[in-house]
Amino acid sequence: MDTIKKYISGNKDRFLAELFDLLRIPSVSAKEENRKDMLRAADFLRNSLLEAGAGKAEVYQTEGHPVLYGEKIISPDLPTVMIYGHYDVQPAEPYELWKTAPFEPVIKEGKIWGRGADDDKGQLFMHIKAFELMNNTGTLACNVKFIIEGEEEIGSVNLEKFCSDHKAMLASDVILISDTTMISEDVPSITSGLRGLSYMQVEVTGPDRDLHSGLYGGAVVNPCNVLCDLIASLKDKDNRITIPGFYDDVLECTPEEREAMSKRPFSKDSFMKSVGVNKLDGETGYTDLERIGIRPTLDVNGIWGGYTGEGAKTILPSKAFAKISMRLVPNQNAEKVAGLFSKYFLSIAPSSVTVKAEFLHGGEAYISPLHTAEYNAASLAVEETFNKKPVPVRSGGSIPIVSTFEKVLGVKSILLGFGLESDAIHSPNENYPVSNFLKGIETIPLFFRHYKNQKIR
Ligand code: BES
Ligand code: MN
Ligand code: MN
Repeated sequence: MDTIKKYISGNKDRFLAELFDLLRIPSVSAKEENRKDMLRAADFLRNSLLEAGAGKAEVYQTEGHPVLYGEKIISPDLPTVMIYGHYDVQPAEPYELWKTAPFEPVIKEGKIWGRGADDDKGQLFMHIKAFELMNNTGTLACNVKFIIEGEEEIGSVNLEKFCSDHKAMLASDVILISDTTMISEDVPSITSGLRGLSYMQVEVTGPDRDLHSGLYGGAVVNPCNVLCDLIASLKDKDNRITIPGFYDDVLECTPEEREAMSKRPFSKDSFMKSVGVNKLDGETGYTDLERIGIRPTLDVNGIWGGYTGEGAKTILPSKAFAKISMRLVPNQNAEKVAGLFSKYFLSIAPSSVTVKAEFLHGGEAYISPLHTAEYNAASLAVEETFNKKPVPVRSGGSIPIVSTFEKVLGVKSILLGFGLESDAIHSPNENYPVSNFLKGIETIPLFFRHYKNQKIR
């Protein structure tokens, strides 16, 4: 058995036990009540890095949740790989839909169950264990840096400043990230692009208080009704977004790229089954995979207003709200799109209401080129562990900091994800197959080896 496999099989129970300690910390970045847990998770990972062999590991306070930085520099002549990951997780609600408690991880049916099992604690922890493996077997092929944040799930709001304040410390040749998916263990893939995001919150106000809907209804404007009209008019019958200028900067895919996408294995039936719908719907003129991967979208994430408690209450509400996100594609600018949205949303509102639109956060899309040292290294590494050459796939998800890294640090990222579509990230019953966790730990040292060979010839 080779060194890597031997180290993993001798240590895997401990790897899992340590990951479970991390998964037990409810580091939900969105919630004030978990602020202490955020610090606990960052401290936990700091210790993990030091125990794994980092020469330095430091927790930095920010205006939000702490950032963890660690490094092991072995030689100025070797390339430097910076690992990025996030220790924050999405809220676990609705709790009643979990079959096991979200922050009490268990292994069942060969999978790790719990919030963060995949996104991103499970995938991040693979890197720390691969780093430990390389240190303890004397096989570390590159300098390593780690940047681990606690605000990815809320838009990485303080990480851009951290990057521009610590440019020299964060200098590297490439950023390696495991926070995406692959098609399956039989069809391994490498993420070649991410969508961007503009996240808005809107508020529609009618009367200055909730009114009796019998005494006033019919004559006074209802902001909930108006909000529904406004949202409905953001898309046309072809499911195209009606905001003027929205598509102006969209980079259309070449026919060759679309042709390549159409060859990707995809079963409409099992896709529909996996989400419990009996028909798919989206922008006219594009396939399902194109609608997810290469087209921008607009979705209401939540909508509220008036009375939503138990039973019935007859009111004409004073206010209505919605959270609306737009997924963006390469060349669209998050702030510019937010501006177009606000301008249009305000312009179509009737004068009987007042409307506010606020830009909560966002980031640009990302394209990962296919003929770089890091892509070749990732491809060779995956081919060795999965026995199949991986295919490049544009993902519909977003990791806004990736384009910021390119802008602020001038460094490209390689998206080597080991999650599966069935991992239920952000949903109840998030899970991560133990085999993917271990395969990841096996693949990462190979990436380092191949990357060094690609860079130093
Ligand atoms: N890890 C995900 C993004 C992801 C998952 C990309 C799977 C590709 C495949 C990340 O943690 C995430 O959830 N990002 C957010 C963005 C954010 C600004 C809240 C998203 O995509 O909604
Ligand atoms: Mn993630
Ligand atoms: Mn996420």
